[in-house]
Amino acid sequence: MGPGRREALGTVVRVTPRPRRAVCPGSYDPVTAGHLDVIARAAALHDEVVVVVLHNPAKAGTFTVEERIGFVERALAARGVGGVRVEAFAERLLVDVCRELGADVVVKGLRGPSDVTYEWPMALMNRHLTGIETLFLPGAPAFEHVSSSLVKEVARWGGDVTGLVPDEVRDALVARLRADD
Ligand code: PNS
Repeated sequence: MGPGRREALGTVVRVTPRPRRAVCPGSYDPVTAGHLDVIARAAALHDEVVVVVLHNPAKAGTFTVEERIGFVERALAARGVGGVRVEAFAERLLVDVCRELGADVVVKGLRGPSDVTYEWPMALMNRHLTGIETLFLPGAPAFEHVSSSLVKEVARWGGDVTGLVPDEVRDALVARLRADD
């Protein structure tokens, strides 16, 4: 930039915008293909995404928190999804986790009307508590029928869940649910 141009502009204030950070919360016990689709789409819309694994220490899940985190991390790496980190929290309000992480928005997928019924009051309550907004993404139709609980039920009774969860999760489900018998 020449001196003339500098004068014409006067004082230039360079503002570096803060990265837009989204949170994708859930139990992720275990992560499904539907979750991964929403996380990848959230990552494409934001500078940073934090996958927040919320768990209840008093309740034994199917997988430990460390296992759940590992499944998400490896599945995202295998799909080449960057700009995402995974963190676990327990016994906390989501809004407090968002505040601690400096998150601007919560991102959730909606598979259909029953998800709307479940998610709507939570989104309004979270906005009531701290003003944080929830961004809803329509779930991919291919995964409309996919939930962690349904996948576990199908796997428990010998059904094939290939494609509905990462292969590593499918294999771990078969081993875990058989071991529980
Ligand atoms: O995978 P899930 O079970 O649908 O996830 C639900 C979850 C963990 C995102 C939701 O229950 C939650 O946000 N829990 C944290 C506690 C909280 O903030 N409760 C008030 C919500 S208005």
